[in-house]
Amino acid sequence: MTNQRTSKLAGALGQLAEHLQWLRDEGVAAVAADPKLVQALGRRVPTAGHAAAGAGRKAGDQPRARAAASPAAPAADAPELEAARAALADVAKRVAVCRQCPLGRARSRTVPGQGHPHPAIMFVGEGPGEEEDRQGLAFVGAAGQLLSRQILRMGLTRAEVFIGNIVKCRPPGNRPPLPDEMAACLPYLREQIAILKPKVIVCLGGTAVKGLLGVTTGITRLRGQWHSCAGVDVMPTYHPSYLLRGGGEDKARWWEVWNDLVAVLARIGRPPPPR
Ligand code: SF4
Ligand code: URA
Repeated sequence: MTNQRTSKLAGALGQLAEHLQWLRDEGVAAVAADPKLVQALGRRVPTAGHAAAGAGRKAGDQPRARAAASPAAPAADAPELEAARAALADVAKRVAVCRQCPLGRARSRTVPGQGHPHPAIMFVGEGPGEEEDRQGLAFVGAAGQLLSRQILRMGLTRAEVFIGNIVKCRPPGNRPPLPDEMAACLPYLREQIAILKPKVIVCLGGTAVKGLLGVTTGITRLRGQWHSCAGVDVMPTYHPSYLLRGGGEDKARWWEVWNDLVAVLARIGRPPPPR
């Protein structure tokens, strides 16, 4: 094989390994695969010490080795984690049958949010898009892929944080949720925050800020400054979709988000990763 083909294959295997790790972080316990492929991936997908997120994780599972060295979630014993997981599942069960606002009529699936039951960081977006509505998982479309990369760059995995939204059902045509819809859905988010007890909430975009902080000041002015909600530190920053749409004429917005995320890492006592 030529060097070029070898490096192309290595790149493709690397991407596949990353995708498998992401699936595992989302709680997918197994995927069908050709044994030869598994052998080729063998050295790229570490299995020791891993724990999947949310429903896929069992009581007593330990976080990955990297997280154990520098915890991304407050220490909690197994029964406490199990109780938080059960309480989150109870919220999700009520959301699944909720018809408190008109968004409940048009949805395919509810998207309660997913992740660690006691994370240091909780990310809150606007509401499910098309892909989220199809899968029932928060941030699994294009914006979600960018969020995953940002989380990885912070030195964390999706399994170590919680990712949710202001509304749990998809607004038609991806429009922002209306004030009445946000008001109807907010009690679920407040319940989740009380269960999760995150150290920091990252508000992704103006809708999340409006919903959680009740302020209508533009995100450009609010981002990068600490706020507070129910006793939890809140950092507003730009929504990943905004960055994907260009985020201004240059890449300045991307760096602003990165600076906000570095401030979040400092607040939870983790060192900033190299730029
Ligand atoms: Fe219920 Fe929230 Fe869905 Fe409205 S968006 S139906 S309040 S779960
Ligand atoms: N955008 C959001 O705000 N939330 C999602 O879950 C996906 C995209």
